[in-house]
Amino acid sequence: MGANEETNNAPDRGPSAGPIAKVGVIGAGQMGNGIAHAAALAGFDVALNDLEREKFDEAMEVIGKNLDRQVNSGKITADEKKKALGRISFAETYADFADADLVVEAATEEETIKRKIFVALCPFLKPDAIVASNTSSISITRLAAATDRPERFIGLHFMNPVPVMELVEIIRGIATEDVTFTRAKEFVSKMGKTVAVSEDFPAFMVNRILLPMINEAVYTLYEGVGSVDAIDTAMRLGAHHPMGPLQLADFIGLDTCLSIMQVLYEGLADSKYRPCPLLVKYVEAGWLGRKSNRGFYDYRGETPMPTR
Ligand SMILES: NC(=O)c1ccc[n+]([C@@H]2O[C@H](COP(=O)([O-])OP(=O)(O)OC[C@H]3O[C@@H](n4cnc5c(N)ncnc54)[C@H](O)[C@@H]3O)[C@@H](O)[C@H]2O)c1
Repeated sequence: MGANEETNNAPDRGPSAGPIAKVGVIGAGQMGNGIAHAAALAGFDVALNDLEREKFDEAMEVIGKNLDRQVNSGKITADEKKKALGRISFAETYADFADADLVVEAATEEETIKRKIFVALCPFLKPDAIVASNTSSISITRLAAATDRPERFIGLHFMNPVPVMELVEIIRGIATEDVTFTRAKEFVSKMGKTVAVSEDFPAFMVNRILLPMINEAVYTLYEGVGSVDAIDTAMRLGAHHPMGPLQLADFIGLDTCLSIMQVLYEGLADSKYRPCPLLVKYVEAGWLGRKSNRGFYDYRGETPMPTR
């Protein structure tokens, strides 16, 4: 038999590594629920995992509301919403990923957490299953090394909010094989997203450019150059950004912003990326932005109020 033999146990290349049908998602936070939402809407079966069942239930509530918004704006029908919700199930353990063609890890942006997940996950997967990370900044090559399948490991960097944003950055690790890249790209295209290919350098492209701007906005606040409101108004009206940088930081999550700056700072060894001490202070306070109801704005009232 030749290299292209059509057996079910051909390892990782050739026709057996067909299109993706079932997707696992690890982490049901704002990105995980967005990926589950967009994948289910595109017709994929989705198994969604988090540390507790409660997180999954919360995610399903968010997904339901976000789908409602799409129904109300005429983007999808009520039937499509119902079908999408029906395609998402809870993955209590990694055994529920045994028939997944692709597992996207979207857990907290901490390398030790992600590495532990990959070590525990891989023994349950089909040999040709692809593992992807939605990391914003951590080296794909390094994460791949924590798996048993660096050639079937890839970075799929979705943007927030996933159901709305059109772009996905695809990042190949040093060992990622062509077939993995092609299958992942097909998956992303089927979700209706556009791909931008990035090399595996700290924070890839979007965040390499975006996060230093946000960090600089926090320095501008820290040094008293402007208030939260003044800085955001300046960038909204003066640079035509749809959101001010501090509003955007709250939206991304201040812990995620800090962790991306740390990765840039350490990974590129350049002091121009040093995280602003005020950003560190907000994270230490647990003021993580929208997800914790307080960050550069306080979201507990009817309208967000600047906290400085
Ligand atoms: N927030 C953004 O704008 C954004 C954009 C692109 C990529 N990302 C990346 O997506 C990932 C998730 O970010 P997020 O904003 O959704 O964070 P989040 O804090 O909203 O969600 C993280 C989720 O992971 C869960 N989790 C933690 N450890 C876990 C484990 N061992 N097993 C299963 N679940 C676990 C947490 O309970 C939480 O529900 C990060 O890698 C982040 O860098 C974030």
